Amino acid sequence: NDGGHDAKNLRVKLVLLGDSGVGKSCIVLRFVRGQFDPTSKVTVGASFLSQTIALQDSTTVKFEIWDTAGQERYAALAPLYYRGAAVAVVVYDITSPDSFSKAQYWVKELQKHGSPDIVMALVGNKADLNEKREVAVQDGIDYAEKNSMFFIETSAKTADNINELFEDFVDYAT
Ligand code: GTP
Ligand code: MG
Repeated sequence: NDGGHDAKNLRVKLVLLGDSGVGKSCIVLRFVRGQFDPTSKVTVGASFLSQTIALQDSTTVKFEIWDTAGQERYAALAPLYYRGAAVAVVVYDITSPDSFSKAQYWVKELQKHGSPDIVMALVGNKADLNEKREVAVQDGIDYAEKNSMFFIETSAKTADNINELFEDFVDYAT
């Protein structure tokens, strides 16, 4: 007996977008399996994974995750995955200014063609490579703020901020 509280089973449809090699698949692998793969292969098309987390009041939140392929040849497929997503996570690599530009491209594309109420997050991954950093933390913060996005830096390698990233979206579960 839960004392009269309704335990709910909620879900969040989430899509990851961003340049090839920024670590989208590694972020998902870390969140879903608690693992890191230094030899991660490029994603072909897209892959789907889900992970359910339990909240304190025994509500569960199921994340339904579309991990898209960042290589240019797959760019035209992206709308298939971001349409119908409640949350879009746009990832760049803090050691790659090009990947930060590509992230901005995806944000604009989502603003033009995504659902008007989509929740967006900007993620600077590979935060463990701080000595090779080429995108300042403040640049990420500023861009996210201008575009009403969450912002977080993560490391799929060390697991830093990976659970925190997904926990940001619990409030948008339906
Ligand atoms: P596509 O599937 O082509 O779009 O790439 P992706 O964004 O899924 O990249 P993936 O997750 O496959 O990671 C690419 C490379 O970056 C792999 O060699 C990973 O091991 C490495 N990598 C991913 N995340 C991190 C991280 O947080 N830190 C470090 N140091 N390396 C990472
Ligand atoms: Mg991938």
